[in-house]
Amino acid sequence: MTKILVIGANGSVGRHVVASLAERGHDVRALVRDVSTAVVPAGVEAVQGDLAAPESLEHALDGGVSVYLMWPGIPVQPRVVELIAKHAKQVVYLSADVADLADDEPPVIFHQEIERLIRTSGLRWTFVRAIDFAGNVLGWADQVRQGVVRWPYGGARRSLVHERDIADVAVAALTEQGHDGAKYVVTGPESLSHAELARIIGEETGTGVRWEELAPETARAELTAAWGNAAFVESRLRAWESFTREPERVTDAVHQVLDRPARSFRSWVRDHVEDFR
Ligand SMILES: NC(=O)c1ccc[n+]([C@@H]2O[C@H](COP(=O)([O-])OP(=O)(O)OC[C@H]3O[C@@H](n4cnc5c(N)ncnc54)[C@H](OP(=O)(O)O)[C@@H]3O)[C@@H](O)[C@H]2O)c1
Repeated sequence: MTKILVIGANGSVGRHVVASLAERGHDVRALVRDVSTAVVPAGVEAVQGDLAAPESLEHALDGGVSVYLMWPGIPVQPRVVELIAKHAKQVVYLSADVADLADDEPPVIFHQEIERLIRTSGLRWTFVRAIDFAGNVLGWADQVRQGVVRWPYGGARRSLVHERDIADVAVAALTEQGHDGAKYVVTGPESLSHAELARIIGEETGTGVRWEELAPETARAELTAAWGNAAFVESRLRAWESFTREPERVTDAVHQVLDRPARSFRSWVRDHVEDFR
């Protein structure tokens, strides 16, 4: 059985990839930056490596692995993909819902740059293009504890996805035939507005959450101060505004790959009730 290297093994998706592969008896290697503090399931081998220092990955890639790759918030390192292609036959990349680019088109976002590096690498590949993770609502946790979510665009209709569904699709792509060259846009099963998401969190946590509509200009100032990235805030505000007019899309990728419905947002909240306490 091919060894599977999970890069981003402690990530909000990667941790489920590791757990699911280990449960199914696969030979799993988890990439971590600090082996001395790494916590991995029994039977999983933790191996040191840092994407910011590509040559440090040689040891982790040794021995004919398949690779689950995520990219953290650091500059893209083309050498990482070169090294993966040197040692591995297959990569499954955690991407976002990005547009396909022609080979001469400049990337708008780093995911497009990495997808292009992978497409031209000679590797067998699958892109798991995830819509926003349900876990992003943990950014509301402090407000939920106070019984009110103040946020813009309460009517923005979202299709947030459970991180375990993203991981399950990635695991299928890593372990089953028939996923080469696929670009799966993985979403939740339903369209729920920001205000409905807050209501469901309140119902499941028993905290009775009230929605308070935040004016976009107030949100712009507060989120820029909190996140420190004005361009990112602007892109989020633009997207949320658009979802008030046209809901974020809902796909059947989870059903197509896993032959079961995607997990609901309510089930995600049930899995994370303690995170809001
Ligand atoms: N949030 C969303 O809504 C959303 C939607 C679509 C796509 N995405 C994409 O999903 C990815 C994030 O995935 P995630 O949430 O599973 O991960 P995450 O929780 O953001 O990242 C944590 C993981 O990244 C690893 N890591 C960080 N810097 C590293 C480095 N220099 N070298 C090696 N490993 C490093 C950490 O390793 P250590 O254990 O060593 O710390 C840890 O395993 C991003 O590319 C993001 O753009 C996110």
